[in-house]
Amino acid sequence: MGITTVAANDFVRQWDDVREDALAAVDRVGGSGWLVLGDEVAGLETELANWWGVPHAVGVASGLDAITIGLRCVGIGPGDRVLTTPLTAFATTLAIVQVGAEPVWSDIDETGGLDLERAAEVLGDDPSIRAVVPVHLYGHPLDPELLSGLVAEFDVALVEDCAQSAGAEREGMPTGAVGTVAATSLYPTKNLGAMGDGGVVLTADEEVAARARSLRDYGQQGRYEHVELGLNSRLDELQAAILRSAQLPRLERHLARRREVAARYDEALRGTSLRPIETAGGRSARHLYPVEVEDDPVGAFQRLRDAGIGVGRHYPFVCSDQPAAGGIGVAVGDLAVARRLAARELSLPIHPYLTDDEVEAVITACRDIQR
Ligand SMILES: Cc1ncc(COP(=O)(O)O)c(C=O)c1O
Repeated sequence: MGITTVAANDFVRQWDDVREDALAAVDRVGGSGWLVLGDEVAGLETELANWWGVPHAVGVASGLDAITIGLRCVGIGPGDRVLTTPLTAFATTLAIVQVGAEPVWSDIDETGGLDLERAAEVLGDDPSIRAVVPVHLYGHPLDPELLSGLVAEFDVALVEDCAQSAGAEREGMPTGAVGTVAATSLYPTKNLGAMGDGGVVLTADEEVAARARSLRDYGQQGRYEHVELGLNSRLDELQAAILRSAQLPRLERHLARRREVAARYDEALRGTSLRPIETAGGRSARHLYPVEVEDDPVGAFQRLRDAGIGVGRHYPFVCSDQPAAGGIGVAVGDLAVARRLAARELSLPIHPYLTDDEVEAVITACRDIQR
């Protein structure tokens, strides 16, 4: 008997599913003669803003750029300090550094996200911090009341990193709705994934949206009128058209499947040594299915890999320990929880095209490695 291989993502199955819609989208763009920042991008922006439940969406080239542009839109730049989480994709830190600001990494809590009570203490101790970039990691929504409390008490800008949280909600609100601006990623593995790179700036503020539109296009306001030093961070018509025709219409179904798979894992892992890392409230978007393994996590990772399971690690190192982060920021305290999860977290396969048999194969492998 061969080993069942369960991939972390399956873009071939995705293509089988979306092929017709995606090809029609390509044909539409080809026939339109307009390839960058046209009607497809504008249409996607309107449809995504409606789906997300925020007034404005601005398509950009990546999630990294969406955070970078978001920070610039709220006036963060050289000399400013920005509080963020040490356990995230390095892009979160990179965006802060790219605008010339200094990251301040504060510890997380047991859900994997920034510990917002601890964050309040750090903000109280350091009035030079001008913004907070929390991450709704794994798709688990942070507490919107605590987030808005930080803004009210410390007069900081809030730029929410929603790269993993498309579809998450808490207290009736989508993630990204508390901050002045939020950012998401359209990277292929994300809940709403393009067939390449892309990102979106989300905001309720019309002026912020206008500034993001300018910043993504060299800082132009009118044609050839450059009001500030912008980027080239434009979203292609092709990606926007495919997202509109093939991905956005499937998103609710995909989220439902992610939640179904997560519920099955929750049930099956009870009482095992793989402890699911849960949200503290609301509905997670289940971008990832993280578990904490106390005893020999690296061995468990390898044994699952050997069993054909596409297990991942999000993330094995805290951002402040990365070689590229040397000398660029401040870690507050020893970041004990972040370091613990960095050492012990494993991500089980979760994507909308997993079959029930594959889910059971993952569960069997998780049980087998306990023996
Ligand atoms: C939490 C988080 N922030 C930012 C990013 C950056 O997004 P992108 O890869 O589209 O630049 C990602 C995706 O990798 C992410 O997971």
